[in-house]
Amino acid sequence: MAKAPPPLPPAVRRSPPTTIESSRDRERLRTVVFPEHSDLARAVAERIVEVIHRETRAKGRAVLGLATGSTPLGVYEELIRRHQAGDVDFSHVITFNLDEYYPMTPDSPHSYRRYMWENFFAHVNIAKQNVHIPDGTIPRERVADACAAYEEAIRAAGGIDFQLLGIGKTGHVGFNEPGSDATSRTRIVTLDTLTRKDAAADFFGVENVPREALTMGVATILDAKEIALLATGEHKAAIVARAVEGEISTDVAATFLQRHQSVTVYLDLPAADELTRIKTPAPSTARSSTGCATRFVAGPSSRRTSGCSSSRPIPMTTSSRWAAFSASCGRTRTRSSSRT
Ligand code: PGA
Repeated sequence: MAKAPPPLPPAVRRSPPTTIESSRDRERLRTVVFPEHSDLARAVAERIVEVIHRETRAKGRAVLGLATGSTPLGVYEELIRRHQAGDVDFSHVITFNLDEYYPMTPDSPHSYRRYMWENFFAHVNIAKQNVHIPDGTIPRERVADACAAYEEAIRAAGGIDFQLLGIGKTGHVGFNEPGSDATSRTRIVTLDTLTRKDAAADFFGVENVPREALTMGVATILDAKEIALLATGEHKAAIVARAVEGEISTDVAATFLQRHQSVTVYLDLPAADELTRIKTPAPSTARSSTGCATRFVAGPSSRRTSGCSSSRPIPMTTSSRWAAFSASCGRTRTRSSSRT
């Protein structure tokens, strides 16, 4: 397995995360927008630590549903840091990953099993037998049984307490591509062309991206007690707006989250760019009691500003939106860089 990395530097003590508040009338999912990307990772990691503490106290174990991709990497880094600081013990944590390419060998650089060990599991005290990841090496004739066994293992563990999700440009959660319905369970699926194109760079060509994957279903995900959907980067803005503000539809699997009682969507600013509260906030709701609801400069050298007194609505074109809003508030703003 992966070599242990050098210990991470201790977390810098900072003020509580800044979030953007504004009208949420159109939002069908509870959504939190973080000007600073690192605050997003810290907030999600903190919630996971709380769930682990609560569940291990209550029933002796905590069950996490985990995701791969670039989006959750900061969360895993923060959880490793919290573990090294002695804040969280993973010895009674059971995990179930959402998905794996099919076919896929565990030692492949594209394997999600390898991703999870290299980026997270190898650096915390999780027991190997408590880790569950769909097996991309299962012979095709045994795939259906293996998927049923995965569902049974989740049930036997007592269900998932906290499910971490990313979202793909197709609106997939796990690999539930357009067409996946609310009753779907763990199964083999065909990947959408857009998903394969998005993965093409990692695989050095779309022709090398597997055409299929094993994934938890929408119903499997909705069975989790609490769900966190994370999205970062401008390339996710359109699908995030569809998932958060759009009608429930099999065209966008993430919209089914609207049927769940306990979902939080965690966004950085670029990923929130197409939400109505950011794109076209009403003048009355774009302002806080101190004058401006979104006073900040995002990016690596973020700092808060004050003294905004604009009551103008934010201009609507994507390219000029933030610059114009900054100007209307009499301050500068830089975008935080998108993650790929
Ligand atoms: P990403 O993938 O985190 O790499 O953007 C998310 C997903 O496709 O679910």
